[in-house]
Amino acid sequence: MFLTDDERRMLDGESGRGVQRAMELLVALGEAFDAEKMIDISRAHVSIGGQESDIFYVEELVAGNARCKVPPTINPDWDVDTLVKYYKVSDHQVDLARKFSDLYGRIGAVLSWSCTPALMDNVPVYGEHIAFAESSAAVYANSVLGALTNRESSQSALAAAVIGRTPEYGLHLAKNRKGTVLVNVEAPLRDDLDWKLLGWYIGRAVGLETPVIKLPPATGTPTPEQLLNMGAAMNTSGTVPLFHIPGVTPEAIKAGSTVIGKRLKKAWNVTHRELDQLRGQISEESGPVNMILLGCPHYTLNQIREVATALDGRQIRAQAPMWIQTSFHNLALAERMGYKLAIESAGAHLVADTCIDQACWGNFEGGHGLTDSPKCAYYRSKRGHSFKIASLRDCLRIALNGASAQ
Ligand code: F3S
Repeated sequence: MFLTDDERRMLDGESGRGVQRAMELLVALGEAFDAEKMIDISRAHVSIGGQESDIFYVEELVAGNARCKVPPTINPDWDVDTLVKYYKVSDHQVDLARKFSDLYGRIGAVLSWSCTPALMDNVPVYGEHIAFAESSAAVYANSVLGALTNRESSQSALAAAVIGRTPEYGLHLAKNRKGTVLVNVEAPLRDDLDWKLLGWYIGRAVGLETPVIKLPPATGTPTPEQLLNMGAAMNTSGTVPLFHIPGVTPEAIKAGSTVIGKRLKKAWNVTHRELDQLRGQISEESGPVNMILLGCPHYTLNQIREVATALDGRQIRAQAPMWIQTSFHNLALAERMGYKLAIESAGAHLVADTCIDQACWGNFEGGHGLTDSPKCAYYRSKRGHSFKIASLRDCLRIALNGASAQ
């Protein structure tokens, strides 16, 4: 890969050990993917797993005096101050969360702690080159907004944020952004859960191809939440950092019929039968519910309003706590607008800065939960916590009736 004199000097360590380590990673990536050169990025988003492996790299960069040239927003960890009031979490995990905050603050990240940056805190424009980790955020930025990013790891996104550049390969190149396979959705999607199941189906089916998703004519314009959640599911069951929807997503609108590249490799037809079968496969249906967990990805203000409206003046009867995760901004707005009060008066909780895949939810492991998110169900199951997947409306009905998930 060609390096400018400036890049070469950074690689040689002239800007300090932290910058050098970041350059080493980017150069290795560029060489692995045959990039010809590096390009500027104007935004970054870093995912974090809340585990020691993630600390290792940021700690090394901070120790080497690196500071982000492009301040990245960061993914949620967990809201220590709020959640330790409810649940027992080991001192080690609390220390780890505080250490994350300290290290990302020192490297110059924006401490947003949210997995929906492209909807609020860090919104790229069409054609902007960026480095986004968090698979649900990267696919949204690429597909819905028409920005250009590879599906970065937390480390490569952080390295790009430090240098302000990334190797030019993959989805930074127009030639790699054409659709290659077709997914023909034959029946109208019935609710938001169908969008998530469609995403899961596509992620599992298409492998590393770029799908063009043809929706039935009566579908109307999808909401940002539907597109976000479809992409999140697609990148849980599979690895699909870019999709196109004719008439909806910007590159598909611009390219028209040429959104499919030179050759259509394969096509699938999806009906309600495929979606219903899939739900049967990925949802653990039975068992008393020990928690109801919503907001993976983080709920938007619209989704919070939907919950608040449904719960307003009513009382949750489920013998299980109900938590709704959102961003710091949306929590503040929900408070101003009375949604938080409506939700809390019903007996549920709204929390910011928090991911479903964190130590704070460890008390519930070994049990069975209820969620509207296939992504939540998948990652919680890896921690020994099975989940029934239902539409938001059914989750709320179960919460209000106090029934088990059976
Ligand atoms: Fe967000 Fe964590 Fe889900 S980062 S998308 S709440 S797994």
